[in-house]
Amino acid sequence: MLATQPWGQTPTTSITQHSPQWPTTANLSGQAFLPPGLLALHNDPGSNPISLWLDRGTLAWTDTANGPSCASCHEKVESLRQAVVTYPRWVQARLINLEDQIQNCRQRSGKAGPADGADNEEVLALSALLHQTAKGLAWNVTAPTIKPAEQAAWQSHLNQGAALFTQRMGRMNLSCQHCHDQNIGKQLRADVISPGHPTGFPVYRMSWQGLGTVERRLRACFSGVQAQMPPPGDPVLRDLELYLKVRASGMPLEGPSIRR
Ligand code: HEC
Ligand code: HEC
Repeated sequence: MLATQPWGQTPTTSITQHSPQWPTTANLSGQAFLPPGLLALHNDPGSNPISLWLDRGTLAWTDTANGPSCASCHEKVESLRQAVVTYPRWVQARLINLEDQIQNCRQRSGKAGPADGADNEEVLALSALLHQTAKGLAWNVTAPTIKPAEQAAWQSHLNQGAALFTQRMGRMNLSCQHCHDQNIGKQLRADVISPGHPTGFPVYRMSWQGLGTVERRLRACFSGVQAQMPPPGDPVLRDLELYLKVRASGMPLEGPSIRR
């Protein structure tokens, strides 16, 4: 079934209305758009593949193989709970997200920054563990408060993220907004479009057979509209993550989640 075409041109992929109706509310996370089978998987720690990642993160937390462990400097994982909902942050003239912070700190543990960036499995496992620990906290990403110059820089990156969200891109010529504001609850290929909130990351996607960060998801959305994918770590991806997390202010952090 071909959908109505709200952007007034023939889409290369049809966005269709699903039956039964999915919700169309803007403040729901991707969790609300899961089929019952995946929800059941999510709620069963015995078969949820994320459990293995959390175990791995717990081991990495106390790993002293190459130097001091995370625990050597930070003691309990819970001590970093509040920090999780405040990334991306403006640090030394750039935006860093939680995975960037973990990378920086891994070097303090004597582990060299790997070439595979945020997709490094230990970084992912630690990110999953930290997000799990912060489950239920409200997202609270705010501007730096002390230096006006930093505040202005942060604001300009937020504005760039917001502008990108509405900018058409790729061969499909669609913006994030076309899907994640205007077509919530509609079917796109095997997926159902959610409001695009970053509240349930990292996600275990069945189609990846693995865990991925917000960054990986955003890159997949660029690819989905056949736009050129920014490379991992590209500042554009941090600007978008900043905008999405400010947009999700006050929503609960859901912890690592299952997705299609
Ligand atoms: C052609 C439609 C389309 C466009 C355009 C698009 N996305 Fe997506 N996006 C999807 C689909 C489909 C999914 C997977 C299902 C869902 O929405 O959670 C998704 C998932 C996401 C998620 C994860 C939501 C979750 O809970 O797992 C985020 C965040 C996101 N997109 C952000 C963006 C951003 C930012 C842009 C613009 C750079 C963008 N998307 C452009 C279709 C799109
Ligand atoms: C040698 C000590 C040391 C080790 C080891 C270390 N960190 Fe850190 N960490 C710090 C310091 C110092 C900061 C303060 C911010 C900065 O300088 O980056 C910090 C900040 C953080 C923050 C932000 C906390 C906040 O409240 O703002 C997170 C998250 C974090 N570290 C995670 C980790 C993880 C995960 C590991 C293990 C891979 C780790 N750290 C290992 C010293 C360490």
